[in-house]
Amino acid sequence: MSKTAILEIDGNRHEFPVLVGTENEVAIDIDKLRSATGAITLDPGYKNSGSCKSEITFLDGEEGILRYRGYSIEELAEKADFLEVSYLLIFGELPTAKQLEQFETDIRKYTLVNEEMKNIIDGFPKNAHPMGVLSCLTSALTAFNPKSVNVDSEKDMYEAVCKTMGKFLVIATWTYRKSMGFPLNYYDNTKGYVENFMRLMFELPTGPYTPDPTIVAALDKLFILHADHEQNCSTSTVRMVGSSHAGLFASISAGVSALWGPLHGGANQAVLEMLEEIQKNGGDADKYLAKAKDKNDPFRLMGFGHRVYKNFDPRAKIIKKAADEVLATLGVNDPILNIAKKLEEAALEDEYFKSRNLYPNVDFYSGIIYRALGIPTDMFTVLFAIGRLPGWIAQWKEMRVNKEPIGRPRQVYVGSPLRDFVPFEKR
Ligand code: CMC
Repeated sequence: MSKTAILEIDGNRHEFPVLVGTENEVAIDIDKLRSATGAITLDPGYKNSGSCKSEITFLDGEEGILRYRGYSIEELAEKADFLEVSYLLIFGELPTAKQLEQFETDIRKYTLVNEEMKNIIDGFPKNAHPMGVLSCLTSALTAFNPKSVNVDSEKDMYEAVCKTMGKFLVIATWTYRKSMGFPLNYYDNTKGYVENFMRLMFELPTGPYTPDPTIVAALDKLFILHADHEQNCSTSTVRMVGSSHAGLFASISAGVSALWGPLHGGANQAVLEMLEEIQKNGGDADKYLAKAKDKNDPFRLMGFGHRVYKNFDPRAKIIKKAADEVLATLGVNDPILNIAKKLEEAALEDEYFKSRNLYPNVDFYSGIIYRALGIPTDMFTVLFAIGRLPGWIAQWKEMRVNKEPIGRPRQVYVGSPLRDFVPFEKR
């Protein structure tokens, strides 16, 4: 029997349908709330609000479960590669060998970025933050690929998906090359996607470059772990922008901006900066733990806590192991890692963190790997964006296919009531 929820306002009873998801998550459908009662709900930060029904990612914060299209993140990270997972997220099923080959071929068709885009990147100062540059360049792709705004054409949309996968990787790495003063280079269609990332970043015209396969495999895994995370801030932004029928590039560009913030993807940069600061100030982890607990101090332990995960972040577990492997492969003995370990141990034992269910999140260890690979700190969030790209595309596509209405929240107005205009001389 279908469940209902009863709401009583001013003595009037109203019934609302209750939806139950695949994994028994319960949601009260308030679609008719305002028309039936005149009231709206108020939920700053959307802690209790579902914005859509989705078939893409399942996340159980209490149990520490993350699944893409029903497959556990642990199994995908172990057995699949990033493009396979991208296909799974975007098209709903694991690809056959033939489907994957076709997808890769179609992406390769679009890995060349218009040379005029270089004029845009040249307009930025060398020290511009790469996330700002990336957001701008992603949006600019629309100008060079105007058919990508035909959001009702399935063919144009498929092309936009493949173009985004192909070109985003290139422009993302260009942001780094620009900051280093290196010549901008090109995707090599004879090489794999993640191998291309390493080449695009580090290959110089002065000599050959072959990325270490262990490193490529670790990065591939990191990208998989970042690939989707249901309705987080940047993904909700992508869906929201797309809901106005804006094109894919414009929507992804907005997602990049949302991801940039230190409470979201920008936390991986913030973690490393925090660890460096602790190291510079003598390595006293306890002092920073005390600062994080002090309500008069705005400092937060970056890389700790999550809106949804309240026991552990399953991605952090896998990344921690990958970090150990990468550091061993590279023979790196990084004192920053010791500080991270001390901080983690102390926080996990601390009553403040325990009582608030604050555990290390995905960003706590990813930065250590990136640092070991020689990736500059302000590029860390760009790597998060490369990983998250298929998730953004999948969520945007689902929103379009489901013909979701334009996103337009309401508000409770608490400002001044109507008042008379006051001329300058009387203010
Ligand atoms: N350090 C110290 N205290 C914290 C932290 C932290 N990192 N995170 C939360 N708290 C406290 C917070 O002060 C509050 O305490 P009280 O109940 O006494 O007021 C309580 O824990 C609940 O925090 P909240 O801010 O209400 O929780 P939220 O769900 O709104 O925020 C969060 C989640 C991730 C924004 C927050 O934990 C945070 O700022 N963490 C640090 C930034 C970070 O690592 N972000 C990456 C998130 S994972 C990557 C991604 O998916 O974006």
